[in-house]
This record gives sequence, structure tokens and C-alpha cells, in this order.
Amino acid sequence: MSQLFSPYTVKNLTLKNRIVMAPMCQYSVTKEDGIPNDWHFVHYVSRAIGGTGLIIMEMTSVTPEGRITDNDLGLWSDEHIPHYERLVQAIKKHDAKVGIQIAHAGRKAEDAVQPVAPSDIPVEVLQEETKSDALKTPRALTTEEVKETVQQFKEAAERAVKAGFDTIELHGAHGYLIHQFMSPSINNRTDEYGKDLALFGEEIIKAVKTVIPADMPLLMRMSAVEYIDGGYDLDHSIAIAKRFKAAGVDVFHVSSGGEGPPGKRKPLNTPGYQVPFAREFKKQLDVPVIAVGKLSNPELAEATITNGDAELVSIARGMLHDPYWGLHAEKELTRKVSPPLQYERGIR
Ligand SMILES: Cc1cc2nc3c(=O)[nH]c(=O)nc-3n(C[C@H](O)[C@H](O)[C@H](O)COP(=O)(O)O)c2cc1C
Repeated sequence: MSQLFSPYTVKNLTLKNRIVMAPMCQYSVTKEDGIPNDWHFVHYVSRAIGGTGLIIMEMTSVTPEGRITDNDLGLWSDEHIPHYERLVQAIKKHDAKVGIQIAHAGRKAEDAVQPVAPSDIPVEVLQEETKSDALKTPRALTTEEVKETVQQFKEAAERAVKAGFDTIELHGAHGYLIHQFMSPSINNRTDEYGKDLALFGEEIIKAVKTVIPADMPLLMRMSAVEYIDGGYDLDHSIAIAKRFKAAGVDVFHVSSGGEGPPGKRKPLNTPGYQVPFAREFKKQLDVPVIAVGKLSNPELAEATITNGDAELVSIARGMLHDPYWGLHAEKELTRKVSPPLQYERGIR
């Protein structure tokens, strides 16, 4: 009996298996209006056909300035809603569930004229990089603007619910805005959002909870550790995650790094290298977790579930390599697979 191919329920979300498509920016909004287009349609619906239990659509910005690039998705306007609705409905036809990762890039906004962040601290540039590689120095948000940004997350979440998403993931990882507020190296504010590094994320969670259905699970992606010199460690991320859980996060998607170029501590980048972080979140917080990072070997993904390290595994690059990763993994692990009728002669 494969555990990877057993169903999983959290609140009102029931998944047919434990496979999550990790959020992956496509930088493909050629019209720069934040609206998903044919590329996104083909990309996401293919992975639904390919046997994925839960698709988490890529980092989607709450404001135009919060995009990494102008080619990113957005949810800053009601005009976006019907375009996502079409995509959501098509994904659901293939028995997959779908979430969206809501985010703000903060100081990592590459195309913004003036990126904004908790403080005016730019992302560090490595010695071997030239000045032209450097990201712009951000402007510190005023306290009033921080509160407005919380509202923008709330409004984007409300639009996601209207578009029919089954769940929402807040992007609190990889050095983007929520992570920036959590990071002692990036946030040197003197107001309440600097004195309490969990406050910004916590307020977003509480605000989002007021606009999503009570039985919809809320996901939060976090970087368990930072790799910059002087970066935070697991004790810090878990202390903050406890606050986030109390505020209403139901599932943590446990990643690491992304805040700047790694210093002495480097990400291992070996198969399953972030699983110990997921296991620790699960143990210390007593919450369901999604493990991620080089888990595309089906037996490793299976072992992550059977060993009790995580409830769900998410696959990113493995699904770029193979949109039918789920079907192929099922065939490998169970010898039994039910592809769509049209593909039976190829995959069964
Ligand atoms: C092309 C690409 C785009 C990505 N975009 C995002 C993103 O939008 N949000 C996010 O949280 N992580 C993003 N990531 C990170 C992945 O979600 C994942 O955490 C990482 O690739 C490790 O998983 P893997 O080993 O299965 O690829 C991206 C990764 C890739 C390869």
C-alpha cells in the first residue's frame, strides 16, 4: 500500500494523494497585467492531468510593485478574478485541488522603480558579482504603509476565494516580504513591526482568516533557516511559526533560505535536504507539514510520508521535467495507475 497515494484531508480540503505541485514562478505574463494567460493554462492543467493532488499556483503579488518582475501574476484587482476562475475550473475537472501562493517581493522586487521593504537594507551582493547584478536599495515602508500592505494581502485572499481556489498559501519564505519582516538581519525597524518580528505575518494571517471560509485550510511557506552569515536558525523560525499557528495557519510548507547569498552555511541541496526541517516543524508545532526539496525520486517521496516526516510532499523541478510526474510515480510505486482515458495506451 503506497502512503504517497493515500488520500489526505485537512479541514474541508480532501486530496486524492499526498503530491503537491510546488509554486513556481513562470515569469510569463507578457502583457504585464498580472493576468494568467494560455501559458499558465497549459502549464497548470497539464500537471492536473498528470496526477497531482494539490497544485499551488506560483507566487502571485498583492500589488504591482510587489512582483519580482513585471511578468509575474497578480491579484491586486477584481478584474483578475475571472481569469483565475477559468483556470481553477479546468484544473478541478481533473480531480486535482488548487491553491495559490499570495506574496509580496519586498526588497526582491526587481522591476519596481522603488522597491519597498521593512528597512532600507539591500540584498547583499557577492564579491564575484558586478554592481549591475545588484538589486535596488529598498525604501523602508512607513508604519501606515505596513498596515495597508496587510490589507492588500487580505483583499488578494478574498479575490482568490471568489475565483474558487481550494486553499491559499502565504509566501513567508525565500526572502520575500513576510520573511523580510521576520528576519533580524533584514528588519531593523523601531516601530512595533521591528520590535515584534512576527507581527506583520501574524496580522496578515488574522486578516486573511476573516475573508476565507472557516473550513478552508490556510497554508504558510516558511524558510526554516537562513544561510546568510548571522542569519536566523530553526529555533527562531519555530518560535515565529508558533505565533503563526496560533493566528490561524493550518499547514506549514517548510523550505529554507532565499534571503541573500549563502555565507558559511550552505544549503546541502542533496535529495530530501529540507526534510529534517519539516520533521522538526511537525514535531514542535504539532501541525501537518509539506516537505519540499529534491524529493522527485518517487521512493524518497514515499519514504518521507511513511517515515512520518511530513503529511505531504511537494515537487517543483521534477514537475518541470515531467508534467505527469504523479502518474509515473504511481505506476512505479503501485504498478496500478488510472491515467485519463486519452493517455491510457501510453501510461498504463
Ligand atoms: C522555476 C522555479 C520557480 C520557482 N518559483 C517559486 C515561487 O513562485 N514560490 C516559491 O515559494 N518557490 C518557488 N520556487 C522554489 C520551489 O517551489 C521549490 O521550493 C524548490 O525548487 C525546491 O524543490 P525541488 O527540488 O522539487 O525543485 C521556484 C523554483 C523553480 C525551479
